[in-house]
Order: sequence, then structure tokens, then C-alpha cells
Amino acid sequence: MNKHEQYRLKQLGEYPFARLRKLLEGLTANPDLALIDAGAGEPRLPLPSFVQPTLDAHLSGFSKYPSTTGNDFLRESIASWLMRRFNLKHIDAQSQVLSANGTREALFAAAHALINPNADEKPWVMMPNPMYQIYLGAAITAGGKPYLQPCTAATGFAPDIDGIGDDIWSDTALVYVCSPSNPTGWVADEAYYTKLLNLAEKFDFYVLADECYSEIYYAEKPIGLLEVAQNMGNSEYKRCLVMNSLSKRSALPGLRSGLIAGDAALIRQFSKLRSYTGPATPLPLQHVAAAAWNDEDHVQEHLKVYRDSLDAFFAVYGGDIPAGSFFVWLPVDDDESFVKRAYAEQGVKLLPGRYLGAEDDWGVNAGSGFVRAALVDGAAKAGELASRLKDMAC
Ligand SMILES: Cc1ncc(COP(=O)(O)O)c(C=O)c1O
Repeated sequence: MNKHEQYRLKQLGEYPFARLRKLLEGLTANPDLALIDAGAGEPRLPLPSFVQPTLDAHLSGFSKYPSTTGNDFLRESIASWLMRRFNLKHIDAQSQVLSANGTREALFAAAHALINPNADEKPWVMMPNPMYQIYLGAAITAGGKPYLQPCTAATGFAPDIDGIGDDIWSDTALVYVCSPSNPTGWVADEAYYTKLLNLAEKFDFYVLADECYSEIYYAEKPIGLLEVAQNMGNSEYKRCLVMNSLSKRSALPGLRSGLIAGDAALIRQFSKLRSYTGPATPLPLQHVAAAAWNDEDHVQEHLKVYRDSLDAFFAVYGGDIPAGSFFVWLPVDDDESFVKRAYAEQGVKLLPGRYLGAEDDWGVNAGSGFVRAALVDGAAKAGELASRLKDMAC
């Protein structure tokens, strides 16, 4: 590793859950209460019924090398799902779709595949603040400069695009959007995506939408980036990449399977990188993934659990129900001390908002003053969580 690479890695902070472990070190969760772990966004729902029989039927596939792009049958299931879900007239399984080993690795690799900050003199990689921390790590290690878009109550938690000058846009290579958003629950509407795609066209940058919570929403089904591109007449999805995941939609975080889709030129570039890094999904797991994309019944069952959980939480806690995702993003005085108290006094694990944000040039971390709770244990626990947190506020 050369000095330059070491420097890049040194810029990465500790991952949020490592920070959380340190924060809670030496504290004991209230022993009189059953622990509620709302820290991690890990779905905890029963295994969908098709998983075991599909796995059993395809076990022999472990004796074959899988394709790093995803085998044809999986890419075809993904393309069909994208067309059904986002009303796409067409997306080509061969040239516009790839399989991912979960979206985390793909979101990280994207910056490495798509940007070339030194040669192009386009250093900025834009991202919401607070954000899924992978965007930040990806931008830094790929040699880009993170540009933080504050998502605050003042912007309705949308990543600000109106207050950014043309000089910044023209030096922007890539914009990460997360809709529905982890952690704020904000969802991009058609107008937002349209504005962003118009800017991408004008200033020549790529838009990467992380839509892994697209199937978890309260009232309105979120629109997707590819659908908006098509509505604008961009039916080849130029400049667009979308990632989605079975981790949240199908409650299969251990399957490590997701999708990458969009502009064929970007898919080609991405494919080339992946032919070297080789993140292939084992064949039996690809069969499970295809079965998951082909089935909507389990997704509807999951959705009901998440909606009931949001209802149960907000009936007790009060406030506005977020449009999407299974997270609640609660304002508090000091997020770290609130999380410590919640653990020690109420037996509740939360995540301090600052761990999901980054400090901007003015030393402001847009995640500070919030805590994130993941409603992943069903309605009864969500209601219980709300009443324990409410007791603290009193
Ligand atoms: C916003 C967001 N994107 C991507 C991921 C990655 O999910 P996976 O790698 O399981 O697909 C997560 C997981 O928590 C997430 O919250």
C-alpha cells in the first residue's frame, strides 16, 4: 500500500456500530427490563417460506463457480421485478442489470468504478448528511471529495440541491441519493428526482440512487429514479444507477443479495471492475434471490408489520410518521448522552445521530441532536419502545 492509499484509509472514521459499542462500554442495560435493540437496521422477521425448498433444490450449485454479473436467470428476475415495480417499459437483463452481494459492497464499489477525480477534475461526490456511512467511505477511498448536503428539519430532511452553486455542480462527478432515507425516512418525489436529473444532464454527473428501503413505506409507494428518468424521456436511463436489496424488502440480510441497474455504459464500467474484484453470489443463493424477486406476498406481509410498528410507536410517542423506511429519527438534546441513558435506564439500544453524520467545514454535524431507532421487532415492541423513550423525555 502506498502512502497515498494509507492517507485515504486514515481519513475513515470508526464505523457507527463500533462507536456505539465503545459508547456503551462499562454501562449495564437496566436489568429489570427486557432489552430492546433498536440500534441496528436489521429486519427480524420469519424466513419467507420459499427459502428452504429453493435452497434444497439447488444445493448442487455450490460445486460451480457463479458468474460475477449474476447468472442470467437471476438478472432476468431482477429485470422483471424492476419493470413491474417501477412501471418501466423495458430494462435489459444483459446490459442494464447486475447482481450485487448486498448493496453495501456495490454502493462502495460504485465510486471506484465511476469516478476519476484527478483526471476529470471533478472531485465532488455529493451525499446526504446524515447518511449511510458507506457513501462517505466510498468517496474518500476512491479519491473524491465528499460534499455534504445537509438534511435538516429546514429542508424537510431532503438533501439540499437548491443552495448549491453552479461552480460546485460543474465539479461534481457523482451524487448519492438515499430514498427512502436511512436515517430520516424522507422519500424523494418525482419533482426532486427530475430536478436532480436535469442538473446531472446540464453539469455532466451521475446519480446513484440507493433505494433499498423502497418497499418499506407508510402511505405512498415511493417512486424510483429509473421511473422518473423514463417519464422524462430518458428511457435508456442515461447517467442513472439504482441499487436495491433483498435485505430489507425480503428480510433476508444474511442472503447478501441485491441489484444494480441503469445506464448500460455505467453497468459496463461497473462490470469491468467487478470482473476483477469478483463479488459473485453462490448459485444456490442466486436461486433463492430470484424466488424472492418473483414473490410479492411476503413483501406485503412484511409491509403490514412495519406499518403496524410505526402506528404503535407514534400512537404513544406522538409526532409525524416518516414516509419511508423502518427508522424513526427523533430530536433530543444531546444524542450521545441520550443513548447512554436510554440503555442504562430503559434497557433500549439506539444509535446517536452524529454517528450517521459527518462534520461539515463549519464543524456542524447534521446528525447531532437526533437519535435513530429501528422498528424491526414488531408492533408490540415498537409500542413498548415508545413508552420507554417517552418516560425519559418526561
Ligand atoms: C441506506 C442503506 N443502504 C444500503 C444498505 C446495505 O444493505 P445490504 O448490503 O444488506 O443490501 C443499508 C443497510 O443497512 C442501508 O441502510
